[in-house]
Amino acid sequence: MINPFTAAWHFLQGQLRPIPVPTTSYVGRTVIVTGANGGLGLEAARHFARLGAARLILACRSTERGETAKADIEASLTTISTAIEVWPLDLSSFDSVQNFCRRAESELERLDVLLENAALLSISGGQMAEGYEIQVTTNVISTFLMALMLLPLMKKTATRFNVEPALTVVSSEGHLWASFVEKNQPRIFEAFRPGGAMYDRYMTTKLLDILIARELAAQLDAASAGASPIIVNAVNPGLCKSSLFRDVFLVGQFFLSIFTYFIGRTSEQGSRALLVAVAGGRETHGKYVDCGKVDDPSSFVLSEDGKLVQRRVWDELMEILENIEPGVSANVKQVPS
Ligand SMILES: NC(=O)c1ccc[n+]([C@@H]2O[C@H](COP(=O)([O-])OP(=O)(O)OC[C@H]3O[C@@H](n4cnc5c(N)ncnc54)[C@H](OP(=O)(O)O)[C@@H]3O)[C@@H](O)[C@H]2O)c1
Repeated sequence: MINPFTAAWHFLQGQLRPIPVPTTSYVGRTVIVTGANGGLGLEAARHFARLGAARLILACRSTERGETAKADIEASLTTISTAIEVWPLDLSSFDSVQNFCRRAESELERLDVLLENAALLSISGGQMAEGYEIQVTTNVISTFLMALMLLPLMKKTATRFNVEPALTVVSSEGHLWASFVEKNQPRIFEAFRPGGAMYDRYMTTKLLDILIARELAAQLDAASAGASPIIVNAVNPGLCKSSLFRDVFLVGQFFLSIFTYFIGRTSEQGSRALLVAVAGGRETHGKYVDCGKVDDPSSFVLSEDGKLVQRRVWDELMEILENIEPGVSANVKQVPS
């Protein structure tokens, strides 16, 4: 059980930590940012363009909102050498994820950064998508379907261009508060049903993101004698002003807006945390990057129980992903040709 005073203190420390404006160059690099049409994703994409990325894919569920974001980025920079493209991606549809990844495999020569930023916080009762509760589908299953489908391209990039591509999954401080009662069920992913405490569900999806990112990093290491060609990490940007809480009820909105007004980061400041994780290199591999620095995730994640649950979640997820895209789990072990 989490100690609320320790958690509140930890939150404040991260929240008040200044995160410098990113300066790492992305010249020549190809970058994908999911959910790049607004909030932290848009601001992260703007940094990648400012820092010289050669090709920047804005992966958005609305092409119209994506094109508006592209125009906004282009208008905000005095010089721009980045080719910005808007590609449709709806994480609540497995077909859409598969189409996106097939297109990436056939059209991209390299993939240096996959920033999996898009997520949904749906408080209003929850719906199903593709047979699972929609936040679980969007924030977890599709997020890792995409990651695994794009692994071969990232591995090829590592070998051909002698670089360390980064796969960063955006998690949240909220993972500390997740009750994750479903972990005691025989089938964890199927135990997530619509209805009930949906904010807790959102936080649980963010905990699952950390568990799976850790296991993916470990599996990639195991497949390559301890030196994964790809850096995998999970990041917490802290509490930020964005559209994430649009679905929160009125009273909650009121308190959240007061809270974020005083101590919330702007989306731009939050996006700096994402770029710290992307540029973090080997010391961030398999780690949780909390508001600009590597830190421990929750004590549950580090516990013996957490390690067992991590393995169970991974095994179940691989079964689910195999049903969607047969052969995809082998991408973890595959050696680039
Ligand atoms: N804001 C915070 O305080 C905070 C704190 C911790 C972690 N985070 C994390 O930071 C990330 C960015 O959130 P944000 O604060 O920038 O929120 P946001 O403004 O709501 O942005 C979320 C992005 O995800 C996209 N998205 C949602 N469902 C999608 C789907 N089915 N397919 C494709 N894209 C989808 C949204 O697209 P539409 O515009 O089309 O809806 C939007 O572009 C999320 O992972 C969030 O969990 C945020």
